[in-house]
Amino acid sequence: MKRVVVLASGRGSDLQSILDAVEAGWIRDARVTAVVSDDPEAQALERGRRAGATALPVPPVPKSKGGKEEHERRIIEAIEGTGRADLVVLAGYMRILSPRFVDAYTGRLINIHPALLPAFAGRDGVQDALDHGARLTGCTTHFVDHGVDSGPIILQAAVRVRPDDDRAALHARILKVEHQILPRTVDLFVQGRLQVEGRQVHIRPGDTWMEKVEPVPEALYPHGF
Ligand code: GRF
Repeated sequence: MKRVVVLASGRGSDLQSILDAVEAGWIRDARVTAVVSDDPEAQALERGRRAGATALPVPPVPKSKGGKEEHERRIIEAIEGTGRADLVVLAGYMRILSPRFVDAYTGRLINIHPALLPAFAGRDGVQDALDHGARLTGCTTHFVDHGVDSGPIILQAAVRVRPDDDRAALHARILKVEHQILPRTVDLFVQGRLQVEGRQVHIRPGDTWMEKVEPVPEALYPHGF
């Protein structure tokens, strides 16, 4: 049974999509063992508790008590305290992780970003795409490296930007495909079908979720989904 730990700072709908896929048996031989949040009030913690995962609130640490380095040490301690994590997923975790943290989970640390990386990396990819006048945007799952939203890409899905879109409407459309792409990424990882060679992530042949999911109208799904 692979152990998946999710870091989330807020609502946790991406986390929920993983929990639901495990519950539905779409992700087999894995479970979310813990949810870590830098916000003790995050709804993501409650979602984890309801699913039987350990909820681990780890609030930020003032500079006077060690700041980011101490905060990340406490997060690692909390994660390892629940048993070795086979995969750590950043699902709406809003803090930049240090190279030290990334190195502790190299090859088993993934993130989801609400844009088609490398376009619109950073804090608000949804608004950045709108502001730039993009016609297509979407979401990306990727392995985390020392950069911001810059590691090897695993899956992406594209959605149309509509002329009347505001941030909320566009983000809601992107989230619909996030909730399919992220659990599928976890599934591919726990199946051992992801092989990273430099910037390329090769997906070994196997099943597809295209017959399983209700396709989001007009969305474009990637090879490997
Ligand atoms: C998602 O859009 C994710 O791509 C971004 O933060 C958002 C988290 O949403 N990094 P939720 O908290 O999972 O609903």
